[in-house]
Amino acid sequence: MKTVSICFVCLGNICRSPTAEGVMRHLVGEAKLGERILIDSAGTGDWHIGEPPDERAQLAAGSRGYELGALRGRQIGAADFGRFDLLIAMDDKNVAALRQVCPPQQRDKIRLLMEFVPETDARWNGAREVVDPYFGGAEGFEQVLDQCEAACRGLIAALRPQLLA
Ligand code: 4NP
Repeated sequence: MKTVSICFVCLGNICRSPTAEGVMRHLVGEAKLGERILIDSAGTGDWHIGEPPDERAQLAAGSRGYELGALRGRQIGAADFGRFDLLIAMDDKNVAALRQVCPPQQRDKIRLLMEFVPETDARWNGAREVVDPYFGGAEGFEQVLDQCEAACRGLIAALRPQLLA
């Protein structure tokens, strides 16, 4: 059975990447691909290791039916590039930080989440990044969720043919 392992990556691993993990787990379950698509998340920084997701992220996700409370922050390490097929970053700074710890031959595993939003979805005008909501208001967490939902749907659609081939 073919599988793919994915790690979503942001700065703190308490807002954007746990949200992406929770949304992806939910959608993968709905698609009955839970045994084929393995999901995790991590941060490039070390400030929130061992902490649950930010309460604002948990609240916003919970109101859409995504449960983030059991997740705990961790920091990405070089070994993760051996464990995962894809390391999907939220913004360009995360990509730069990942490239600092990535073995050179594994660099093509690093991608941006917003690459997976279908071109027909014009809501974010072709934005490359999921903006950090940490220092902003509740609407930022709603936008993170909207972007994660659109991109994770696109990601599953992109993976499905290679998993089922
Ligand atoms: P995240 O958000 O990268 O989406 O988890 C942040 C969380 C914490 C901090 C910055 C961004 N911080 O500065 O502690």
